[in-house]
Amino acid sequence: MSSLRPRREDPPVLEEWYRRHLGPDIHDISSSGVHPYTFAEIRDLCRIPVADLDAIVMDDSVSQGGAGIRQAVADRYAGGDADRVLITHGSSEAIALTLSALLHPGDRVVVQEGIYHSLGHYPRAAGCDVVELPARAVRDGAIDPEVLDELVTPGTAAVIVNFPHNPTGVTLSPPGLKALTEHTAATGAVLVWDAATAEIAHRWEVLADPGAEGGDTVSYGTFSKTFGLPGLRVGWAVAPKELITATFPLRDRTTLFLSPLVELVAERAMRHADELIGRRAAEARRNLAHLTEWMAGHEELVRWTPPEGGVCALPVFRELEEAAAGPEAVERFCLELLARHRTLLVPGTAFGAPHGARLGFGGPEEGFRAGLAGLSEFLLARKAAR
Ligand SMILES: Cc1ncc(COP(=O)(O)O)c(C=O)c1O
Repeated sequence: MSSLRPRREDPPVLEEWYRRHLGPDIHDISSSGVHPYTFAEIRDLCRIPVADLDAIVMDDSVSQGGAGIRQAVADRYAGGDADRVLITHGSSEAIALTLSALLHPGDRVVVQEGIYHSLGHYPRAAGCDVVELPARAVRDGAIDPEVLDELVTPGTAAVIVNFPHNPTGVTLSPPGLKALTEHTAATGAVLVWDAATAEIAHRWEVLADPGAEGGDTVSYGTFSKTFGLPGLRVGWAVAPKELITATFPLRDRTTLFLSPLVELVAERAMRHADELIGRRAAEARRNLAHLTEWMAGHEELVRWTPPEGGVCALPVFRELEEAAAGPEAVERFCLELLARHRTLLVPGTAFGAPHGARLGFGGPEEGFRAGLAGLSEFLLARKAAR
């Protein structure tokens, strides 16, 4: 008899949804990132001659990330201090490494409601005392100061947030961020700040990375969202040096370091960030203008809060809300939409929101409009059938 008995664990709803339903020839209007560049576009926009690629020696890199990519990230996000930068396989690895080294069983940790799955997973897995920061406490660019006082008390180990929030697009204003950093510093809590889509802002200016100030802040960034390079699989953390060093034992036993080839492409992409992000941000803004009109035209079927940053939103379908439908209903809704109109959304069940879905507007304009047209037809047909 076989002794093969893998441990069973439920995967995050979001990743399982993509594993099952993301495929070719669909209108994907579900993503939290902009659409990806080809390698030819990257070489052209970031000026990478073939000779530079040919010169790469396919050797080991180093645990913290090669000097070139670390300095490029530091110059944009960490006030030039490359010692405070860790380069990783996507920000997913930065989250896993730093939260595993930071958190202890029994720590009080405040985690934003509906947060990206891995940011919520590690505090629970570490046996922390997790307290939720309610979504409704974030309004007009600030966290309600009474809620902050009540939740982030002296002795709180960490506050984990993601702004602009995936999927709602809610974010903080510069004064709202200042109030949060002052409060965490005063209570001694580490601010853990996921800035995956920080570079695309709608309501206020792009927020400065709180990690750049030094202090007890851990911030994450990635090439996967606003840079249009999800397949590069590079992210980073800006964090105190002692926390970065504390991640090495786990890294030594898992991924060790990145490829020098990947690091070179990432370095050039970071040095040309404005071009890469600028093009896609302009397209996302045109899509957002179209989406805003679309929402106004479908008000009796869908409600939303316009996103303040990033490239996604969480519209709520009134039919599901009015029926107080359970979580299966929104998943059925999304599956039917995909089957009938080849249009993909992510059900809100991936974010604890059973009546809505993640709608991303970072895709190519034509496909985005076709996806929205499919969603229109679908909603109207369902209304007619009721
Ligand atoms: C808020 C947020 N953080 C982190 C990640 C992880 O991304 P990656 O590992 O591709 O950098 C994602 C991906 O969807 C995300 O939405």
